Amino acid sequence: MSFLGPVKPIERSADPDAAHRLKPTLSWPHLIALGVGAIVGTGIYTLTGVGADRAGPAVILAFAIAGAVCACAALAYAELATMIPTAGSAYTYTYSVMGETLAWVVGWSLILEYTLACSGVAVGWSGYLVGLIESADVHLPHWLLVGPHDGGIINLPAVLVSMIIAAMLMAGTRESATLNIVLVIIKLVALAVFVIFAAPAFDPAHLHPFMPYGFGGSMQGGEKRGVMAAAAIVFFAFYGFDAVATSAEEARNPGRDLKIGIIGSMAVSTTIYILVALTAVGALSYTMLAGSPEPLALVLRLLGHPVVSWLVAGAALVALPSVILVMMYGQSRIFFVMARDGLLPGVLSKVSKRTGSPVLVTGITGVFVSVIAAFFNVSEIAELANAGTLIAFIAVGLCMMILRRRAPDIARIFRCPAPYVVGTFAVLGCIYLLFSLPEKTLVRFLIWNLIGLAAYAAYGRSRSLLRKAA
Ligand code: ALA
Repeated sequence: MSFLGPVKPIERSADPDAAHRLKPTLSWPHLIALGVGAIVGTGIYTLTGVGADRAGPAVILAFAIAGAVCACAALAYAELATMIPTAGSAYTYTYSVMGETLAWVVGWSLILEYTLACSGVAVGWSGYLVGLIESADVHLPHWLLVGPHDGGIINLPAVLVSMIIAAMLMAGTRESATLNIVLVIIKLVALAVFVIFAAPAFDPAHLHPFMPYGFGGSMQGGEKRGVMAAAAIVFFAFYGFDAVATSAEEARNPGRDLKIGIIGSMAVSTTIYILVALTAVGALSYTMLAGSPEPLALVLRLLGHPVVSWLVAGAALVALPSVILVMMYGQSRIFFVMARDGLLPGVLSKVSKRTGSPVLVTGITGVFVSVIAAFFNVSEIAELANAGTLIAFIAVGLCMMILRRRAPDIARIFRCPAPYVVGTFAVLGCIYLLFSLPEKTLVRFLIWNLIGLAAYAAYGRSRSLLRKAA
């Protein structure tokens, strides 16, 4: 046992006892759909506008930087996920490599990531709904449609969509994963339609000046701006592939399925983002996109394609919930694994006999997601979610490199190419992105972790099954 708490033997992480196992029902097409389902969402549909506000046309570069960092993290993830194919992703890897205390911090950060990612997407979804309703000249009471930051009281559409998804997951994973495939197709077709209709308006003049706020993040006009500040926000658009790793235990053939699932879904998404962002800032001046709650629909409306704009907004409405679905699924599994290890109350690791999914924990997650979606705005939610995700990615990069040194002979079904270069790039890139977030986000993140450590000291530390066994 190190001073950072006990380290869980890898064999034990890889083989939880049968009574607490999740059913292996998913194969690689499900996992790519699960990955793209979690990856492509509010990040491209909504945060493209926030990114353009922070970086100007260089939002394209911000997407490329965030994508490059995530691709390295994804390679490290793929190596670990195939070595330790059990639920819990970064939390589980950290437990096996760096000990319980850091694993707790990572698990606690993942809880933040998944919860806030669901809320962020729910708010993005609501933005498209409100835009669609208003462009059809229907005006509902504003105070019911947006949170206090945007001049309303409660974002009711965001609450409703969060609750419906939670209920669907409680009804069973299998049906939800199949439905997810259909939604993913709708979402990708809509982005293709966007590019086809907006690309003819491409004007290179819109790309000048390319970096109006410079490269590094600095305060300008009351916001942290610059390419890196935008990258730290649009980073939101890339994660989700870790939800594939989180469901490793439910993969039928983890070695093959996870590798194809993680790398395939990252490659598809990154290509699409660069194309969509380039099309959007090439079609209109970035100042017109900045801060729009539904930038893609707006571009099409302003270009004189109202019907296509409705179709794209409609597709976003139908499909963005798939992101909430996958993220909420990942969230309930993190709770589940931490409870299975004794760090959270055991009642959270109960799997329903009928549906094979953890029902109680999914319900609790749904409530938290709804409350946050009701009262906060999308960029604040995304920034804090990103902080949690960046910590998880840093941990994954470190774990992959440490295990290469410490356990070079363990069989690796997938080997990350140039592991130390890729791992170092992932870790340093994530640290740079973390410190490019606004200071208030970093303070909130610190407070979240202090609360987490207090909970660990008061509850998890003394109840840890591994610590008891040691
Ligand atoms: N990557 C997901 C999205 O952009 C969270 O919505």
